[in-house]
Amino acid sequence: MKICITGGAGFIGSHVADAYLALGAEVVVVDDLSSGTRENVPRGARLIEADIRDRRRIAEIFRTERFTHVSHHAAQISVPASVQDPWFDAEVNVHGLLSVLGACVEAKVEKCIFVSSGGTVYGNPARLPCVEDDPLAPANPYGIAKTAGEFYTRFYGREHGLRWTALRYSNVYGPRQNPHGEAGVVAIFCSRILAGAPVKVYGACAPGDGGCERDYVYVGDVAAANVAALAKGDGEAFNIGTSTLTRTRALLDALLATAGRTVPVEECGPRPGDLRANSIDPSKAAGGLGWRPEVALEDGLALTFRHFAAARA
Ligand SMILES: NC(=O)c1ccc[n+]([C@@H]2O[C@H](COP(=O)([O-])OP(=O)(O)OC[C@H]3O[C@@H](n4cnc5c(N)ncnc54)[C@H](O)[C@@H]3O)[C@@H](O)[C@H]2O)c1
Repeated sequence: MKICITGGAGFIGSHVADAYLALGAEVVVVDDLSSGTRENVPRGARLIEADIRDRRRIAEIFRTERFTHVSHHAAQISVPASVQDPWFDAEVNVHGLLSVLGACVEAKVEKCIFVSSGGTVYGNPARLPCVEDDPLAPANPYGIAKTAGEFYTRFYGREHGLRWTALRYSNVYGPRQNPHGEAGVVAIFCSRILAGAPVKVYGACAPGDGGCERDYVYVGDVAAANVAALAKGDGEAFNIGTSTLTRTRALLDALLATAGRTVPVEECGPRPGDLRANSIDPSKAAGGLGWRPEVALEDGLALTFRHFAAARA
């Protein structure tokens, strides 16, 4: 197996690279290092610096390298940035994906795994946790592009016979994460606790209500879903989350308990556009991929905090 991970120099992609290397696969990371780093790329994987928007270059890389599988993680990952500049978001998250899908077909890649977002494709759902058959109703450009990405991937499957699976992640946290993604709050809290700096908790409805509720999934579990999807789940989208709702304040308290520290906490009002609550039901992935989240939140937060503490030492 020779696997290409686009975005493999980033937070999640680099953990997926670790998991594929552990399988004994040859791993090539295609990344423009716009938010990822060379240091994130595990030893044993090869980095090709390239922008997925460069359609010709991506096609040439795929022709030369002859990948058997592709796990597509490269993306513009910030919801606020997508609201600010929907054009740029679509260039990376739609046009970039089309470069990759076209190159997959031309180079006869066996299977492409598309990374979607369970936190945004369902929009403001009427009931939680969301299941895969719930309506796709994204409420911001990032979610719109991820939803379009699923439809494009499905189209390339139908039209060109490309095997595919879409993985809809909830809020992914863990070592190496950056503060800009959907679970960026974990990275922000770790850094501020280590610096002894004050922390803000934004309310879901009002100051003091403990903040929004989110579904946090550990990055090692997400990497395991990418391993499962190499051979299973063809032609389907799967929620990769836990169904469990955790309030921002509870997340902070768990991190403070791990750290054995306290910091000043400011409880603020809600931020515009923040969803009050979001969680996704992973039952379909249990059947279709044989995947279940394994890492308990307290354990994952402890691993994450230790990573940030070591990086600061
Ligand atoms: N972090 C989360 O909670 C979360 C939740 C749902 C979905 N996702 C998705 O998971 C994937 C990985 O996210 P992440 O949190 O690891 O973010 P990340 O920013 O750490 O990783 C993204 C990687 O893509 C690379 N990249 C960006 N634009 C590129 C381009 N034009 N060409 C080539 N490479 C490019 C970046 O350099 C980076 O290494 C993304 O598709 C994201 O939308 C993340």
